[in-house]
Amino acid sequence: MDIEKLEADLIGQITDAGNLGDLEAARVATLGKKSRLSEVMRGLGKMDPAERQQVAPRLNALKNSLNQAIDDRRSALKRAELEVRLAAEQVDITLPARPEVTGRIHPVSQVVDEITEIFADMGFAIAEGPDIEDDFHNFTALNFPPAHPARDMHDTFFFDPKEDGERMLLRTHTSSVQIRTMETQEPPHRIVIPGRTYRSDSDMTHTPMFHQIEGLVIDRNLHMGHLKGTLEAFSRAFFELDEVRMRFRPSYFPFTEPSAEVDIGCSFDKGQIRIGEGTDWLEILGCGMVHPNVLRACGLDPEEWQGFAWGMGIDRIAMLKYGIPDLRAFFDSDVRWLRHYGFQPTDVPSLGGGLSR
Ligand code: DAH
Repeated sequence: MDIEKLEADLIGQITDAGNLGDLEAARVATLGKKSRLSEVMRGLGKMDPAERQQVAPRLNALKNSLNQAIDDRRSALKRAELEVRLAAEQVDITLPARPEVTGRIHPVSQVVDEITEIFADMGFAIAEGPDIEDDFHNFTALNFPPAHPARDMHDTFFFDPKEDGERMLLRTHTSSVQIRTMETQEPPHRIVIPGRTYRSDSDMTHTPMFHQIEGLVIDRNLHMGHLKGTLEAFSRAFFELDEVRMRFRPSYFPFTEPSAEVDIGCSFDKGQIRIGEGTDWLEILGCGMVHPNVLRACGLDPEEWQGFAWGMGIDRIAMLKYGIPDLRAFFDSDVRWLRHYGFQPTDVPSLGGGLSR
């Protein structure tokens, strides 16, 4: 028997296997019960002892080298399989970004970032609350008595009544988050509240969903001077001017007493508006000293705590600052509009680097 020839033959079968399935077939064919090797091994018993002593170790060595060849081939095939998979699943992360598909920051988001940056610098924190509100947080706790006509000033979107009769609503202002903050956290407070608000109103200057940013400060010994100083500092920083003329007009809100509306000085020249100069006025926000009833509704003693608050429409102030003519385009998601009025993601507003640059 030519063991060398048998070995070359069997090893050849193993190294010829092109995949793991073929390799398994080759293993069965070369080492299995019905293989030529097994047949020869079975024949050992019939050999005379001298011949068997010579042949048996060689057959065992052959068996070992076949097993080794199978292991080697299996590793090689697996490695090759992995190479193929890695090549197929390769992602080229070196592709440069295409400018035409780079996203833009919406002017509303940009203005929120600018405003929160200014107030963060003054030590304010950001607070948020739910868009779907209950009557208590949107109205009652803010000193709107039931059936009070002031409720009609807000064209509220109501949900269908729940089983217990309670009607949820889409918040008509961010003032509801004043209540949620005072209910759950200990004073003093110094927060700004950006968010979406909703009223059933739609024309050139109103959309049913719009954005507000609210401010609330609660502390001991606060008065109207603190309110004025805060809003004046804000206006100068926001409009990026050394001086902004401001006018506090007496007004009415149920949740503040006294209340005021704030106008900033401006001029209209050939359809162009200039902020901070001129003889015209533009209303930008409502504000006032927090009403004692609001403090009481949140469990605060008005003898001990006072506060001031304000609320401002973001969309309008964004139009004003960036010369955007039509409010409705804000919510059309028109890519051409965004490319024109939107901001680069890298234009992060900062007081140090210039708010809008
Ligand atoms: N919530 C008012 C509105 O939506 C705006 C407002 C006025 C908020 C006076 C205030 C405030 O916090 O003090 O019309």
